[in-house]
Amino acid sequence: MSGVAATSRTHHCAAIRPEHADQTVTLAGWVDSYRNQGKGLIFVDLRDREGLTQVVFDREDSGEELCAMADTLRVEDVVAVTGTVRMRGGGPNPRLATGEVEVVATGLEVLGKAEGLPFQPTDPESLPGEEIRLKWRYLDLRRPKMQKILRMRHRVAQAMRRSLDEQGFLEIETPILCKSTPEGARDFLVPSRLQPGEFYALPQSPQIFKQILMVAGCEKYFQIARCFRDEDPRADRQAEFTQLDVEMSFVTVDDVVETISTLFRDIWREALGVAIGDIPRMTYADAMERYGIDRPDTRYGLELQDLTALASKTDFKVFTGAIEAGGVVKAIRVPGGASSITRKILDGYTEFVKQFGAGGLPAAKFEGGAFTTGVGRFLEPIAGDLASHLGCEDGDLVVFGVGPKKVACRSLGELRIRMARDLGVVPKHGEAWNFLWVVDFPLVEWNEDEKRWDSMHHPFTSPRLDQMDLLATDPGAVLSLGYDLVLNGSEVAGGSVRIHRRDVQAKVFELLGLTEEQARVKFGFLLDALRHGAPPHGGIAVGLDRTVMHICDTDNIRDVIAFPKTQTGADMMSGAPSGVDEKQLKELHIASTWTGEKA
Ligand code: AMO
Repeated sequence: MSGVAATSRTHHCAAIRPEHADQTVTLAGWVDSYRNQGKGLIFVDLRDREGLTQVVFDREDSGEELCAMADTLRVEDVVAVTGTVRMRGGGPNPRLATGEVEVVATGLEVLGKAEGLPFQPTDPESLPGEEIRLKWRYLDLRRPKMQKILRMRHRVAQAMRRSLDEQGFLEIETPILCKSTPEGARDFLVPSRLQPGEFYALPQSPQIFKQILMVAGCEKYFQIARCFRDEDPRADRQAEFTQLDVEMSFVTVDDVVETISTLFRDIWREALGVAIGDIPRMTYADAMERYGIDRPDTRYGLELQDLTALASKTDFKVFTGAIEAGGVVKAIRVPGGASSITRKILDGYTEFVKQFGAGGLPAAKFEGGAFTTGVGRFLEPIAGDLASHLGCEDGDLVVFGVGPKKVACRSLGELRIRMARDLGVVPKHGEAWNFLWVVDFPLVEWNEDEKRWDSMHHPFTSPRLDQMDLLATDPGAVLSLGYDLVLNGSEVAGGSVRIHRRDVQAKVFELLGLTEEQARVKFGFLLDALRHGAPPHGGIAVGLDRTVMHICDTDNIRDVIAFPKTQTGADMMSGAPSGVDEKQLKELHIASTWTGEKA
């Protein structure tokens, strides 16, 4: 007998248990594996979204005709099978939830043949490279690992919605075709047909709209928002990505921090069953001093220590010269590094820090109570103080960052991350969830190339109102009401309390070198809104993709996006971006000037 309709499916493939013995069930799914044992005995592992069940076709119970039909099955065919559940003949398979039972087929319908497969998704041995997997993404997504990620992403999104709904937020959509927004990356542009010569920009974030929603009286807004930034993709960065975007009225930094801390506690509880305690805060200045980076990974030590005062007591020109030029001497003590970090590794590290502007990487071992090798002999005059300052123990290595503060901190900060990986001191996935709020960012940073001040976050971030006077005299010293949420050394969210007063906004635009006229052209509608009764407000955006990357333990952002783009911004499956008809271009009054090859 055959002719089983898929719609009559009675169970998922992971659901069959000994208690179903002797029951007739109908399953539907993909042929995960297929084994013809001969003598009319065929085993098929049937897979659906939930799992696997072993199906047996044998001549005696299934009949000659069904066995012949089963013999034509191939891996990844889609079938519906009706049969009777029985305890497994060959003993249980402990690796499967359904491993104690099997289904003896009495009906089979082939719903979709799989022909000429470019690869077998569930055969880990033959998994091709990522480009091929992206080209045939639907096959790739059939892999249980990818199914698990898609499901986890769904759970995270639901937990976000639930948490914010419970905290009184409204989910509101904002436009995709809009005016350029202020995140500072390159815009994706869309030509307008109805207004020839004019362009929409795809939103880099819903920043301006969410602020306007506050002026509109919505008080608490959120949205799972797609954002578009035309910048080169990286391991944790896509040109098209997703944020959980949040904005709130009548709030201080503490209110936003509390709301989002609750959100993350809810997500971790729902998605992972893990309780997150209070999330500590660290100032930006402290993060830079101790970790050399504004998103410190606090799961391990290897902290940067300041040695400028001590180092000035040596005769070592490298130290004293840098200090006289206004620079600093910082150091990292590497426990056990005297033996674990070989000369060759140290040479590699020296090259590594040069990328960040460091002149080199002075180093010394601490052995037998003295600093030896490398720059050890220059440290003699301060050896005792240095050892106690750094807490040196026998067998340690000390590496130094010397030069302008920014360079010394940055280069040692990057080296710290690399050394931690090399030394194997980074906890494994799930062993530590080190959330950290970084606060008190500077409002602006100096852009040496363009000789101007740039916003650290974006131009709508409020300065600390008690530092307004400094805006004119020492802008670099003004702190902002911005904050980032860092998890295990990666930035998962960033936001700020905004400027809601026009006079303050005008001052900040002026500092950023934006004339009234330029500001009007760019953000006139927001400036108008700020004149029409704007409440104090603030918000944040959480990187949804990055959050899921952490939960699912991948450092490849493409793993957590169903249809991601490659390094060159291509969708391998659909072939986007692609050329368009002349007719389409004409309608848009667009002509391409490109004469080269397709990238
Ligand atoms: P920001 O630009 O800091 O802030 O972005 C917020 C968070 O979004 C994630 N993120 C990205 N994820 C993947 N690919 C990218 N290209 C990418 N860029 C950013 C990060 C980051 O922390 N409008 C402001 C938020 C606000 O002020 O409320 C904004 O977009 O996890």
